[in-house]
Amino acid sequence: MAKLVFEHNKEESELPDNSPIAEVCEDAGVPFACTEGVCGTCVIEVKKGHENLSKPTQEEKDFLGDGACDERLACQCKIRCGTVEISF
Ligand code: FES
Repeated sequence: MAKLVFEHNKEESELPDNSPIAEVCEDAGVPFACTEGVCGTCVIEVKKGHENLSKPTQEEKDFLGDGACDERLACQCKIRCGTVEISF
């Protein structure tokens, strides 16, 4: 199991390895709109454990730029394993 931690309240959610994080983020209050990596509404900041997230999708690279790893689009990334801490 992997674990997603929200920095503002330290709330933790357990997810199976390689799960999308969108639903848990939405439940925690991250706003979503397109859910396709186009609008940027769901941008989150990764505080710890970026290496535990899936590689940025082409949509994320197009929106956030190449090489950015502390910002991700919550509708696009999956948690691979381990712990990831985010803020929004
Ligand atoms: S909801 Fe539009 S980019 Fe994620």
